[in-house]
Amino acid sequence: MVIRQKRNGKATLTMPKLGVNIDHVATLRQARQGIDPEPGYAALICEDAGADSIVAHLREDRRHINDADLNLLRKIINTRLNLEMSCAAEIVGIACKVRPDQATLVPEKRRELTTEGGLDVVANFKKIKNTIAKLQDHGIEVSLFIDPSKRQIDASKKSGARIIELHTGRYADALDREQENSYFKELEDACIYAKSSELVVNAGHGLDYFNTPKIAAIKEIEELNIGYSIICRALIIGLKKAVMEMKRLCV
Ligand code: PXP
Repeated sequence: MVIRQKRNGKATLTMPKLGVNIDHVATLRQARQGIDPEPGYAALICEDAGADSIVAHLREDRRHINDADLNLLRKIINTRLNLEMSCAAEIVGIACKVRPDQATLVPEKRRELTTEGGLDVVANFKKIKNTIAKLQDHGIEVSLFIDPSKRQIDASKKSGARIIELHTGRYADALDREQENSYFKELEDACIYAKSSELVVNAGHGLDYFNTPKIAAIKEIEELNIGYSIICRALIIGLKKAVMEMKRLCV
């Protein structure tokens, strides 16, 4: 927990919100191309555990979350649905129909294992600006997933987005303490700069049970979006119970 502000002389404790990315549940389902595990069910468990939003990425190649998942999530989620998506016309059309509470625009490459870098808002300004306008016209809040750079923050502000999500991947993948400190400082400076530009600042990618607390202590951050480490941990802490349940059936 972090002391964020003082009200009436008293310290108030606040923490960033947590968005849980459930793509990895769908990845596991796709390994057998069946119906288990069900991402919608996982989303409800995340909400029950306190998640403030559910994040899902409808990729152009549908490698994990598919259209049916998205429609179901839209119906059952009680918090907020944050749809990660590229600017591809087909996906934008789907978002306008499904109307998630928020769309997070991310770069997408077919052969990447996960979103590799931030969106280059400077280089793709016109396309991104037009996509934001279209989504906002459909009542969808738009966030841009960008690297912690002033140029990208300035371009994001100019594009009409009101929210950015800073890519924490370089910090998370730091090879030693010196690199980690340097990438952390880069993120912290970017958070302060973006907040002073009146943008809502979120962050995510590669955050786990070790590297998250330092990021969660940056007071400008409103929400962290985390997926992989949570699903991995769920598997490990849930495995004993799952085996015990099966053992009881083997009588
Ligand atoms: N935020 C964005 C924009 C992402 O693309 C991802 C990965 O899908 C995440 C957050 C979550 O990253 P991780 O799964 O590494 O926690």
